[in-house]
Amino acid sequence: MSEANGSAMLEVHGLRSGYHGVEVLKGIDLDVGAEVFAVLGANGAGKTTLLATLARLIPLMAGTIHFHGEDVTRLPAFETAARGIGYVPQEKGVFPELTVSENLTIGGMIGRRSREDRIAEVFELFPDLAALQGQLAGTLSGGESRMVACCRALMQDPQLLLLDEPTAGLSPLYVDMFFEKITEIHQTKGVSIILAEQNATKALEVADQVMVLSLGEAFAVMDAAQLTTDQLKEGYRI
Ligand SMILES: Nc1ncnc2c1ncn2[C@@H]1O[C@H](COP(=O)(O)OP(=O)(O)OP(=O)(O)O)[C@@H](O)[C@H]1O
Ligand SMILES: [Mg+2]
Repeated sequence: MSEANGSAMLEVHGLRSGYHGVEVLKGIDLDVGAEVFAVLGANGAGKTTLLATLARLIPLMAGTIHFHGEDVTRLPAFETAARGIGYVPQEKGVFPELTVSENLTIGGMIGRRSREDRIAEVFELFPDLAALQGQLAGTLSGGESRMVACCRALMQDPQLLLLDEPTAGLSPLYVDMFFEKITEIHQTKGVSIILAEQNATKALEVADQVMVLSLGEAFAVMDAAQLTTDQLKEGYRI
């Protein structure tokens, strides 16, 4: 759950961002501690824009981002990655021309721990990955590709992982497996997670807090267990 006021791992205040001068996020506040924080919302609500802004890939129009008390608002993405913010984008999370092993090695370029130890850990988490080591990432199935993208980010030894719809388009078995892994990553590795999701039911099963984004505004931020179906529907405008 969230730490006490003022000591959350990630503190975001008044965040505004968008594209080409057009504002998509209209003033977002959130505090994320040692928890799984779900960001729900309909297509176009601004989930990807929020995660990409937190990963410092989209400039802020206003607001601040603090990570462990440090102002990282103006830092470039490689600096926030080095400080422990990992990012798995909704698409293009792997380098297609490189093998699975090479993708993992690139992730492991950040951090001081032995790369071999970290590779062993991601293989332990996703045993199916071992058989794919020599395969070009561009030839992987959708599910395999999501797994490699997630492991590439984990190779950075993140303290906070931003996961953008990791199960979109995957078959039900893969979806269930991936949500189990999300819980495992959080509980056994102590990684905090911000999870953007369309799949509200599954996300609410693993989340501590939830934010429902609606047209770039935080319609609701609360304990996941307290979100009602009516609030969810209203947030999704259905
Ligand atoms: N590169 C871009 N240039 C201009 N507008 C963009 C760009 N990317 C997203 N948008 C717009 O920003 C708004 C929010 O999009 P965003 O991708 O953040 O939504 P989302 O909640 O992630 O949706 P989805 O569930 O479909 O992934 C949309 O209106 C979208 O058209
Ligand atoms: Mg998106």
